[in-house]
Amino acid sequence: MNTLSRRSFLKRGAGAAIGGLLPLSLVEVAFADKRRNFTFAYISDSHIQHIKGNQFVRNWDRGLIRAVAETNLMDPKPDFVMYGGDLAQLGTKAELDHGLELLGALRPHTRFVMGEHDYYLDLGEYWSKLLGPQYYSFDHKGVHFVVLNSILTYDKWINKWSTPEERMNVMAGLDNPLGSPFMVGAKQRAWLKQDLAKVSKDTPVVVFSHSPLQKIYKGWNFWTEDAEQVQALLKPFKQVTVFYGHVHQIQYNQIGNISFYSAMATAWPWPYPATYNQKPSHLPKLTVEMNRADPFFERDATGWQFIDVWSGRATVHYSLPENTPRTVAYNPKTRRPEDTRYQKKRIPPQKHY
Ligand SMILES: [Fe+2]
Ligand SMILES: [Fe+2]
Repeated sequence: MNTLSRRSFLKRGAGAAIGGLLPLSLVEVAFADKRRNFTFAYISDSHIQHIKGNQFVRNWDRGLIRAVAETNLMDPKPDFVMYGGDLAQLGTKAELDHGLELLGALRPHTRFVMGEHDYYLDLGEYWSKLLGPQYYSFDHKGVHFVVLNSILTYDKWINKWSTPEERMNVMAGLDNPLGSPFMVGAKQRAWLKQDLAKVSKDTPVVVFSHSPLQKIYKGWNFWTEDAEQVQALLKPFKQVTVFYGHVHQIQYNQIGNISFYSAMATAWPWPYPATYNQKPSHLPKLTVEMNRADPFFERDATGWQFIDVWSGRATVHYSLPENTPRTVAYNPKTRRPEDTRYQKKRIPPQKHY
């Protein structure tokens, strides 16, 4: 399969049809035997937000509508779509219903990851009623896929609020000091251990979580408390790739055998910690920050990614509206993902606006 031709197709086809650049990922899983190759699409962090009655925040709606339209235009068609979490902003039935209504226009089968904005109003009850289990695995054409709910937290924190709305509002803040760190938790880790016991160590494993399964920056909950314990369960496998949402920006890293890649959001970009409060950046050391060209352009630093996974190793093409496209590829010589253009000359942190 030729990624560049698909990218050209999307730029031509989608641009002509709906006039824009759209935030989603296309993932190619590639084998030495090309007859086994397949693709899937990945959309994340739409934050559908209810105002009142039938009114929703229009800009967040538009981001998701455009991602859905672009997914439906892909040729060849993705085998399935993964939605990466934070479909809702404050976890309400209205937001989840409306988000799923918009996603209902997708032609491929869609699977879901739980985000904290979907969860902390009713602790995932309505989400589960609509979408089923919060963690699960499946096999597809020789790859073992695992979906984890990584945004759980301590029971003590969950039970300390006087109303579910108060709990949801606190967890919805990026840098609210009253929040609580995310975690996968012992129950799910025991399940993961059991699930992976059935999988051959040569099988490529792709894991989806909402928060990063690595510790990046606790102050903004770019963090999973038991990340190391989950990584230890993945360690015996030869090729492991973790995709996550939540951070609304480009990040990548390599820890042991595991390659990490984030996806951009369909809603809005988060700044990097160093660009916001002049705090020291706690990004993975490999990451070259995105250039924020225009903070007043609503689509700046949202974007899409094209991802090739070659025998479990990824090449991610990030397309940014009115900004320089980026490619982050696994380098077999250094055994880590690297930005093919910027890795050697880091982009300096942007000024605080
Ligand atoms: Fe988000
Ligand atoms: Fe999130």
